Amino acid sequence: MLKVDGRANPKSAFTVIGHDLRLGQVITNLIENARSFVPETGGRITIRLGRRKSTVRILIEDNGPGIRAEVIDRVFERFYTDRPDGEDFGQNSGLGLSISRQIIEAHGGHLTAENIPGKEEGKWAGARFIIELPGERT
Ligand SMILES: Nc1ncnc2c1ncn2[C@@H]1O[C@H](COP(=O)(O)OP(=O)(O)O)[C@@H](O)[C@H]1O
Ligand SMILES: [Mg+2]
Repeated sequence: MLKVDGRANPKSAFTVIGHDLRLGQVITNLIENARSFVPETGGRITIRLGRRKSTVRILIEDNGPGIRAEVIDRVFERFYTDRPDGEDFGQNSGLGLSISRQIIEAHGGHLTAENIPGKEEGKWAGARFIIELPGERT
């Protein structure tokens, strides 16, 4: 069970019923990916929590280069990996997002990706991964 504590506003507290280790693994995967893409100086990862009706949303945003539009759905395919040259390929199996999506879907949810629009036309301010899970009011 992943309990998201809405301390700032107790009325917005909600609970997601599920496998806590697996759900934690998804968050770790997404943060690790984000960490690997943000610039060494000024890198920023933002995690937002929200709820609409009974759907809990967790957004993981970074200020890296974003994802090329033509591969934005392919990144969830098994073994899909595309990283700058010189990175250690042994560590990048291309399985992280595929497994993460499977875990979220097994909980009745969705995992999607989009780019964050930048100030300049055609340039992204970063990538955003969106987890949606069925939640329950606590
Ligand atoms: N935060 C991100 N920003 C830009 N591209 C990303 C991000 N997260 C994932 N990707 C792209 O999706 C691909 C697949 O991710 P993943 O399944 O975790 O595999 P891996 O991390 O082993 O490369 C990455 O290789 C990268 O091209
Ligand atoms: Mg990964």
